[in-house]
Amino acid sequence: MKICIILGTRPEIIKMSPVIRACEKQGLDYFILHTGQHYSYTMDRVFFEQLELPEAKYNLDVGSGKHGEQTGKILSGVEPVLQKERPDAVLVEGDTNTVLAGALAATKLHIDVGHVEAGLRSYDRRMPEEINRVLTDHCSDYLFAPTETARRILLGEGIPDTKIFVTGNTIVDAVFQNLEIAKDRNNALNDLHLEPKNYFLVTAHRQENVDVKERFKGIISGLELVSDEFGLPVIYPIHPRARKMMNHFGLKANGIEFIEPVDYLSFLQLESKAKLVLTDSGGVQEETCILGVPCVTLRDNTERPETLEVGSNMLVGTEPEKIFEGVKLMLERENNWENPFGDGKAGKRIVEIVGEIRG
Ligand code: UD1
Ligand code: UDP
Repeated sequence: MKICIILGTRPEIIKMSPVIRACEKQGLDYFILHTGQHYSYTMDRVFFEQLELPEAKYNLDVGSGKHGEQTGKILSGVEPVLQKERPDAVLVEGDTNTVLAGALAATKLHIDVGHVEAGLRSYDRRMPEEINRVLTDHCSDYLFAPTETARRILLGEGIPDTKIFVTGNTIVDAVFQNLEIAKDRNNALNDLHLEPKNYFLVTAHRQENVDVKERFKGIISGLELVSDEFGLPVIYPIHPRARKMMNHFGLKANGIEFIEPVDYLSFLQLESKAKLVLTDSGGVQEETCILGVPCVTLRDNTERPETLEVGSNMLVGTEPEKIFEGVKLMLERENNWENPFGDGKAGKRIVEIVGEIRG
């Protein structure tokens, strides 16, 4: 049996790392196809180096571009690789353009597609991710749902039960596998002169937030309010899209410490020791829930409702006062929730299921 793992962006590298490790451990015949959607050192290579992942056998180097252009380039780049390699199954993870194009290329060649993190829905079609995940789920052969909630959503859309496997989310594996190593290294906090539980951590990069001036401005003003009122450092490792759009809109910020995106171990340290995290990232909503750190989500909806149900997360949108109110409310909550995303063995489970079906 031969497996092809397609990935292309920061969260896919992180969330596929447990699947890659499971393939290595089981001595499977597999290879990595990197689309090159992310290519900056801090968004790509740093994760391969730090997580000690094997090199991709192919890199399509598609780079950035408009949705159609980027998705099309990936589709036409993946096809000849799959024709040459003829894997028994292709695995994709998440909801990016890489995921949709990779799944589409494979299914058109009648190669089985396994979608890791299937069944997430925000029900907001303004998000490119929502379109990508719906279409990917509906052309996949094995749907690896992280939770029962995701499974129920898939069943509700008419996907047969036999195709759905509740495995947990591989982000739990990634956190468990790396947190111990991260704990022993105190450098990220020291480098930034931070004290545990005495700073706020921020990430925001979503197209519908940072590409819309009013929304991005609202987020920045909200962060300034948090910085002023609490008198604590606000650290924002800024995604290249957000950096580009801040410059484009000429937005200025006081009291927010912008830094380059950081490596995974440093980010885990910063996240696990933060007083509270403000984010619009999907992965960060999950990680804070797993780490027991309160999260305020700078969006109007989430495809991670489990975080709201257990109480680790609150949706506040992008208005400054709502952001500040959300931070105050979340800090009053007890953070003794249970992690709803699984036991940290999702990667192993996924590889075993593919092996049972195709082996
Ligand atoms: C993509 C995903 C998003 C995911 C995010 C993870 C889609 C539609 N979006 O968004 O779901 O949450 O990755 O981080 O697939 N850039 C760089 N260096 C890079 C990559 C990007 O400078 O390595 C800059 C470029 O200016 C580019 C912009 O960031 O135009 C956006 O990159 P793109 O891959 O189109 O989308 P992301 O916002 O990264
Ligand atoms: N992350 C990181 N360094 C950073 C910011 C985030 O390693 O400076 C990690 C974070 O721990 C999480 C993932 O990147 O696992 C989330 O990726 P991102 O927010 O880009 O994408 P999303 O999850 O929203 O698709």
